[in-house]
Amino acid sequence: MAEENANVVVEAKGLTKVFRDFWGRPKANAVNGIDFQVHQGEVFGLLGPNGSGKSTTIKMILGLLYPTRGSLSVFGKDPQDVETKNRIGYLPEETYLYKYLTAFETLDFFGALFGQEVSVRKERARQLLEMVGLAHAFNRPVGEFSKGMARRIGLAQALVNDPDLVILDEPTSGLDPIGCREVKDVIRLLASRGKTIILCSHLLADVQDVCDNLVVLYGGQIRASGNLSEILKEEDRTRVVTPTLSEQTVKELREWLAAKGIKQDVSIDHPVMDLEDFFLDVVNKARNQNASTAGAHAGGQVPEYLENKSGKTILETLTYHEEPKKAEAPIEPEQPKVDEEKLKKLADAQPKAEDPIAPIIEKTEEEAAKLKAANDKLAGKFGPK
Ligand SMILES: Nc1ncnc2c1ncn2[C@@H]1O[C@H](COP(=O)(O)OP(=O)(O)O)[C@@H](O)[C@H]1O
Ligand SMILES: [Mg+2]
Repeated sequence: MAEENANVVVEAKGLTKVFRDFWGRPKANAVNGIDFQVHQGEVFGLLGPNGSGKSTTIKMILGLLYPTRGSLSVFGKDPQDVETKNRIGYLPEETYLYKYLTAFETLDFFGALFGQEVSVRKERARQLLEMVGLAHAFNRPVGEFSKGMARRIGLAQALVNDPDLVILDEPTSGLDPIGCREVKDVIRLLASRGKTIILCSHLLADVQDVCDNLVVLYGGQIRASGNLSEILKEEDRTRVVTPTLSEQTVKELREWLAAKGIKQDVSIDHPVMDLEDFFLDVVNKARNQNASTAGAHAGGQVPEYLENKSGKTILETLTYHEEPKKAEAPIEPEQPKVDEEKLKKLADAQPKAEDPIAPIIEKTEEEAAKLKAANDKLAGKFGPK
């Protein structure tokens, strides 16, 4: 039994969340007695229409909400456990970004929150931005990003701490088909690296492409669950796929089947290509012909950096474990490149006469000069002789 549970990452038993109103009266049974297990290395889909309890379930896994009843364990511990939280990466439904930080600074900031060293932060930020196709936007403020770009940086941010469990709420919303495919490839790749992924999505095609197991929620309860390919398998039908058959062969095939008593519901036709595959094929062909685009830089296939032939993949580099840091590392001289132009602009900018802040600046400058004079005087008195 213990063996069997060794690779259980998330386990919910009778998990329930009742939201109450101001008077303590139950307002919404958001999650109503659900049981499920998420195993290590799997992509687990949490499906359901709006208001079915997906986000509430996720927030309980993240330790942001307390269950009303039932039990929930993450890595065998309470979701409130700090160590547990450090092992989780989360992409919220809406990404909240500090719009004046650049893409690099955003990732650097989150890395710092996890106590990573400057050099590690810098390297990871660079690799992650490359992985999500934002290398060209390294120094751009995220406030300027399109929805798709914001989604990409959100995904990169969710991976900054090299999490063992990645929770993605609608990761492909706002992305074009190329971006969707890339995100799905990243999800599969993470799973193949032993990461566990919980995916919430309304986009059923995305779920179908990446999930191993899923639950379908409705009204806070699980209405269906299981292994995706098993759930979707049509047990009462068989499909045979071959290279194109001649008309004569098709005729003979039908006769052969008829002789076996199979006459009804036989269809022999050409399978239809996935629209996504078709679209990516068109884009790839255009790219190979060097057609110009003002759009996203990455695209089409699995990003090359994920298929590094020469050895280590980005994720392998990212998934090395460092010693947990106790104190913040001293700031090293090596810093991200300064935007000289921006700096010059700032330095050149003179406060205008009508600028309400100008008098304050002058005043503080005056005060600063006074302070400096006093300081020099003191230094003269007490400083080294
Ligand atoms: N903070 C809250 N206070 C009261 N009711 C809430 C709160 N959060 C969610 N709910 C209710 O709980 C139900 C489930 O919501 P949610 O988990 O956000 O659904 P989903 O993510 O599947 O769309 C909804 O009926 C919603 O109105
Ligand atoms: Mg939601």
